[in-house]
Amino acid sequence: MLLRAVAIFIFALTVVFSLEAKEPRQIRETGGAFVGSIGCKSSSCHGGAGPKRSQYITWSQKDFHTKAYAVLLNARSTRIAEALGIAEGSATTSARCTVCHSPFQSVAQERVAPTVRANEGVSCETCHGAASGWLRGHTRTDWTYNTRVAAGMRDLRNLYVRANACVACHQSLAPEILRAGHPDLFFEMDGQSVAEPKHWTEDESWSGLREWLTGQAVALREMSWALASDQSSDEFSAARWNGLAWLCATATSAASIPSPVSQPTSTPGKSDFISMQTQADALAHRASTSNWSGSSARSLLLALASTDGEFTVKGTASLLLGQRAKRLVLALDRLANALNQNSSAHLKIDNELNQLFQDVKTLDAFDAIAFAGHLQNFRTALDKSG
Ligand code: HEC
Ligand code: HEC
Ligand code: HEC
Repeated sequence: MLLRAVAIFIFALTVVFSLEAKEPRQIRETGGAFVGSIGCKSSSCHGGAGPKRSQYITWSQKDFHTKAYAVLLNARSTRIAEALGIAEGSATTSARCTVCHSPFQSVAQERVAPTVRANEGVSCETCHGAASGWLRGHTRTDWTYNTRVAAGMRDLRNLYVRANACVACHQSLAPEILRAGHPDLFFEMDGQSVAEPKHWTEDESWSGLREWLTGQAVALREMSWALASDQSSDEFSAARWNGLAWLCATATSAASIPSPVSQPTSTPGKSDFISMQTQADALAHRASTSNWSGSSARSLLLALASTDGEFTVKGTASLLLGQRAKRLVLALDRLANALNQNSSAHLKIDNELNQLFQDVKTLDAFDAIAFAGHLQNFRTALDKSG
C-alpha cells in the first residue's frame, strides 16, 4: 500500500516536472502552500450572503469546477481510462487526468496543508494561487490589490495572466486522450467565464471582447507551441490549429489590430508553428488591454459574418472548415453579446445564431455548404437589425 502510494507520488512528480520543463508558460507557480477552500469559506470571508462575500457559495453550489474530481468517477471516465489502459478505478489517481481534474494531487506533498480535501477539484487556490503567504494579510485594510499580488496572489485581473491560468486546462489535450473519447476542448474565455459562472464583477464595459480575443490568442499560442514541440502531430490537431489561426488572422486583419496574425499555410511545418506562437503571444498581450467601441465591435461582427464565401471554396478539407466554423460561431456570439450589452443595439439574431451553433455542435458531420447558407441568413438578420 505504502509502496504503491510512493510509486504514484513519484510518478506524479515526474509528470509535473516533465510538464514544467515542456510547458514553461503554463500556470506560473506562485509559491507558498495550499490551504484548501475551507480557508475561504467562513461567512465573514467568502462564504456569506451578498455579492461581496458570496464567492464560496457561488463556487460550491454552481461552479462546474467543484465537480472536476467527481467526473473522474463517472461512466464516461471509465471508458476513457479503459481505452488508455489506465488500471480500473485509477482515473482519480492517474496524473494523466488529475493534472486538470484534481490539480492538488500534482503539488508536492509538503505544499499541501492537511485542510485540503482530496476531492476538492479545481479550487480557489488553483486559480488564485497558494494562499499561505496572503491568507492572513489579504483582508487588512492597508493591503491594496497590489500588496496581495506581491504576497503571492495570482494577478487574475490582468487578462493575459487570467487566460494563461484557464488555458492550461482548457485547450491542449494529448491527442490520444481525445481519441479515447474525451470531449474536445475549445477554450473561449469570455463565454466560458460567464458559464463558470462568474463570482466576480467586471465593471468595465467591453471587457468581454478583451477576454474573448485574449483567450483566443492564448489558445492559439498553446496549440502552436504543442505542435512545434511534438513532431508526431496528426491531421486532426493540425486542423484544430488551422481553424483558430484562420479566425485570429481574419479578425486581426478585419479590425486592423496592430499585432496581426498571418493566415495559416496549408502544409505548416515546425517553423510556421514557432512563428505563429510568437505572433499569438504578441496578440494576447495587446488584446488584454485592447479598446473596443460600438463601431469597432460592429464592423468586426459584419466582417466575420461576411465570410460565407470561404466555406464554399472547393478543395478545402471539411475537417478544416468545421474547425474554422466552430471558432467563427464562438466569435459571432461574443461580438453580438458585447454589442447587446454595451451599446444601443438590439440585435434580433437569436434564431440564426442558434442555427449556427447547431451546425458546429458535432463536427463529425459538418456540412460546409449548409453552414455557408446559414451564415448568409445570419448576416441578413444582422443587416435588418439596423
Ligand atoms: C488538459 C486538461 C485535462 C486533462 C488532462 C483531462 N481532462 Fe477531462 N476535462 C477537461 C475539461 C476542461 C473538461 C470540460 C470540457 C467541457 O465541457 O467543455 C473536461 C471534461 C471531462 C469529462 C466530461 C465531463 C462530464 O461531465 O462528464 C470527462 C468524463 C473527463 N473530462 C474525463 C477525463 C479523464 C478520464 C481524463 C484522464 C484520462 C481527463 N479527463 C483528462 C480537462 C482535462
Ligand atoms: C476557475 C478559476 C477560479 C476559481 C476556482 C476561483 N476563482 Fe475567484 N476569481 C477568478 C477570476 C478569474 C476572478 C476575476 C479577477 C479578480 O477579480 O481577481 C476572480 C475573482 C475573485 C474575487 C474578487 C471578487 C470581485 O468582485 O472583485 C474573490 C474574492 C474570489 N475570486 C474568491 C474566490 C474564492 C473564495 C474561491 C473558492 C471558493 C474562488 N475565488 C475560486 C477565478 C477563480
Ligand atoms: C486546473 C485545471 C483548470 C483550470 C485552471 C480551469 N479549469 Fe475550467 N474546468 C476544468 C475541468 C477539469 C472542468 C470539467 C469539470 C466538469 O465537467 O465538471 C472544467 C470546466 C469548466 C467549465 C464548464 C464546462 C465548459 O467548458 O463549459 C467552464 C465554463 C470553465 N471550466 C471555465 C474556466 C475558466 C473561465 C477558467 C479560468 C478562470 C478555468 N475554467 C480554469 C479545469 C480547469
